[in-house]
Amino acid sequence: MRTMRAAFASSFDADNPLSALTVGERPEPTHPEDDWVTVRLRASSLNHHDLWSLRGVGLGADRLPMILGCDAVGTDPDGNEVVVYPLVADPGDPRGMSILSENFQGTLAERVAVPRMNLLPLPGGVSATDAACLPTAWLTAWRMLTTKGRVEDAESVLVQGAGGGVATAAVALAVALGKRVYATSRDPGKRERITELGATALEPGARLPERVDVVVETVGAATFDHSLKSAAPMARIVVSGATAGHEPKVNLRRVFAMQLEILGTSMGTPGELTELLAFCAEHDVRPVVDSVVPFSRVEDAFARLHSGDVFGKIVIDHTA
Ligand SMILES: NC(=O)c1ccc[n+]([C@@H]2O[C@H](COP(=O)([O-])OP(=O)(O)OC[C@H]3O[C@@H](n4cnc5c(N)ncnc54)[C@H](OP(=O)(O)O)[C@@H]3O)[C@@H](O)[C@H]2O)c1
Repeated sequence: MRTMRAAFASSFDADNPLSALTVGERPEPTHPEDDWVTVRLRASSLNHHDLWSLRGVGLGADRLPMILGCDAVGTDPDGNEVVVYPLVADPGDPRGMSILSENFQGTLAERVAVPRMNLLPLPGGVSATDAACLPTAWLTAWRMLTTKGRVEDAESVLVQGAGGGVATAAVALAVALGKRVYATSRDPGKRERITELGATALEPGARLPERVDVVVETVGAATFDHSLKSAAPMARIVVSGATAGHEPKVNLRRVFAMQLEILGTSMGTPGELTELLAFCAEHDVRPVVDSVVPFSRVEDAFARLHSGDVFGKIVIDHTA
């Protein structure tokens, strides 16, 4: 059997997810349907989703071993440079679809198989490294701000936990969209870097100079009360993650009195990814990259993500 190098979940460990990660040989991709193609990887990026998988959240034991990774930029069989849209139709999943690395093998490998319709052209002027940040974290932030948060009707935006991949994306995009942006982080160094992106940085829980129209919430229990308190009447609090716990106490009196909308969202559509790629190319917006790590050191990249000492996206260079 032909094999390739891959980083995969070989078991689960809720407390020490890094111990469930294996880097080694896995079988070459196979095509479940005729319209699938194999993409040779140039770049991918890590997401908190990969750590959740190693903890056994969202990934069943019957799916192990599972190659991790949702994001991919690479070369299709015709030699075209492509960005891979990471959601695949999946009738067996209650959502009707799954993200690469949940049911179908992920992108942290030499090659990945996906439906041909999931391939988008890599726009000119956008590097493979930058584009590898967009399909999961940046797409999620884009949909949070636009489709869900209706940011075109907003003056101001609050982003919680601004060091993360989704959060730095939301800060950069909201600034590029011309909004007043506030962002919280526990870390003084990250607060300094948020300021460099054009936002006003605050400590978690700090009182804002104004109430905001849109809140981008990926932290969860640790920040949700602050999100509610910082929201203007009729504001949209958009939730796509709960890194610090998914069961916050919610002051419902504030929700109805201020007529707040709490909106859940996941990823985005292929059309939204096309819009995002065009927006980044046209407005010269580039992802916030924490570090670019060669695939040969992918374990170090996971350790860095797990440490929490990250500002922006960790990109994996599959050509190094
Ligand atoms: N639904 C979707 O489609 C989707 C897509 C992508 C991501 N997500 C989810 O969104 C979340 C964010 O993912 P990510 O990969 O962007 O970044 P991440 O690595 O999960 O980091 C998020 C940020 O959370 C903050 N944080 C963590 N623990 C905290 C605590 N106890 N108190 C306060 N802040 C805390 C940190 O901010 P500071 O250090 O700056 O304070 C960190 O930078 C994850 O839960 C992920 O699963 C969902």
